[in-house]
Amino acid sequence: MKSISPVTLKVPELQRLLQSVIAPRPICFASTISADGIPNLAPFSFFNLFSSNPPIVVFSPALSGRTGQPKDTLLNLKEVPEVAVNIVTYPMVHAVSLASSPYPRFTDEFVKSGFTPLPSEKIKPPRVKESPVHLECVVKQIIPLGDQGGAGNLIIAEVVLIHINENIFDENQKINPAKLELVARLGDNWYLKVTPESLFEIEKPITTIGIGIDALPEKIKNSKIFNHNQLAQLASVEKIPEKVNNSILSIEEEPLILAKAARLLDENKIQEAWQLILNII
Ligand SMILES: Cc1cc2nc3c(=O)[nH]c(=O)nc-3n(C[C@H](O)[C@H](O)[C@H](O)COP(=O)(O)O)c2cc1C
Repeated sequence: MKSISPVTLKVPELQRLLQSVIAPRPICFASTISADGIPNLAPFSFFNLFSSNPPIVVFSPALSGRTGQPKDTLLNLKEVPEVAVNIVTYPMVHAVSLASSPYPRFTDEFVKSGFTPLPSEKIKPPRVKESPVHLECVVKQIIPLGDQGGAGNLIIAEVVLIHINENIFDENQKINPAKLELVARLGDNWYLKVTPESLFEIEKPITTIGIGIDALPEKIKNSKIFNHNQLAQLASVEKIPEKVNNSILSIEEEPLILAKAARLLDENKIQEAWQLILNII
């Protein structure tokens, strides 16, 4: 592996490298307002949820890498410590990118990028109508991480009101990620779009504690057929299941059975895979 000390890289190179590997990052489309009431919109992918009780989101407008100057979002938040965080989806993404242009202060990016301001209920900055999820937030703390270009400023904000477009719910009132069409930021110019094909589920190992890979039968653990994911799927059961059928198989069939079990695991059919495996251990 190549090992790199951050101090050996120029800041833009370091930023490009880290952004390419710390990815995909969700995008916060932050609507803020100046003391004079002029709105500002800008996207930030140094963004995440950090607490649910209290509900806290954090994003980071850095000092400009080119000029070392603070971004308009940061200046606005120091004047009016409130922000509408709008979640970015695929139908919005090109206009969101347009809004990230370094327009002069007091340029209204709602106008520049063609988004529709929607009045917020608890805060002054407007929300973005085109986004299906808006978080009205009050800024609790701003933490500068440095004073040179590229230094982040953590905006620690408490969510005080959540608005969600009902079209993104499924019949059980859970958010359907296929309907939400989230986009995320990768390195360089790359973005990622959540599509039905890119989604998969893994049950949380909270209510059941998996036996662990160390507890798998030696024959399975040492088999060349299963990859790490498949071994972990087998090891996620609470105990090795009981055999339900008693088929007698010849030793020659073993590799075929293991290969079939591996295919079942790729379809997340863990119990079915175990039943096949139980025939040969
Ligand atoms: C998808 C996307 C994500 C971005 N994320 C960040 C970020 O996390 N931090 C940052 O300082 N700039 C980020 N930028 C760049 C800012 O959006 C850009 O500097 C913008 O002009 C800042 O606007 P403002 O001066 O109106 O606050 C991002 C740009 C895009 C397109």
